[in-house]
Amino acid sequence: MRGIILSGGLGTRLRPCTTVTSKQLLPVYNRPMIYYPLNTLISAGIKEILIIVAPEHSGDYLNLLGSGRQFGVKLTYEIQDEPRGLPEAFIIGENFIDEENVALILGDNIFSDDFSKEIKNFKQGARIFVKKVPDPERSGVVKFDENFKAEKIVEKPKEWLSDYAICGLYLYDKRVVEITKKLKPSARGELEIVDLHNWYLAKNELEVSLVKGEWIDAGTFDSLLKAQNLAKEKLQDQLII
Ligand code: G1P
Repeated sequence: MRGIILSGGLGTRLRPCTTVTSKQLLPVYNRPMIYYPLNTLISAGIKEILIIVAPEHSGDYLNLLGSGRQFGVKLTYEIQDEPRGLPEAFIIGENFIDEENVALILGDNIFSDDFSKEIKNFKQGARIFVKKVPDPERSGVVKFDENFKAEKIVEKPKEWLSDYAICGLYLYDKRVVEITKKLKPSARGELEIVDLHNWYLAKNELEVSLVKGEWIDAGTFDSLLKAQNLAKEKLQDQLII
């Protein structure tokens, strides 16, 4: 399994803090934000990790994280010129993925769970992770049937559909590259990750796991503050980097 951290984007919701730096380099208590998703992948046993960054900040990431040798992993870097949606990671990362399975994690997503089991046991298809939240309209959501089988997946639904938000960690088999190439941009002009989930769902090859611990998408000032407190109170013991 290879890992990709998508750490591009403009971080417009966090301006002026992101006017001269990348959102995912902002401090979350005593580490830069990206350390947390990087820790999640490394703790799960992933040794080859691609970090996709915006061109303006690529030098900063390289200076901060380097080769990855200090963490016992190999880090490589690619540039995303413009934010054109999460699935673009699989096009940018095509050579890196190289016929392997891949775990994509978003650079602003902070988890307390250990995903080693799911990642080690993953063979094919797709696996996404969900958590019950009070504000599902901020995320992709999954509606389940009475047997807790995924029935419908919608990106940021305007009408309430379910309380289960899709978290920013996704496992896919190698087909994800070719499927992504066939996706069409949505009304907001971006490739949508829910279109990938729906492709696997339609083939009955999508598995859904519940996140038992904490999950925060640290992309707003309020959620960033929550992430800071979570990092201080709960995450320090499990950081291996
Ligand atoms: C993205 C995805 C969404 C997912 C979320 C998790 O949204 O499009 O499906 O629930 O990440 O953080 P974004 O936060 O980029 O708007």
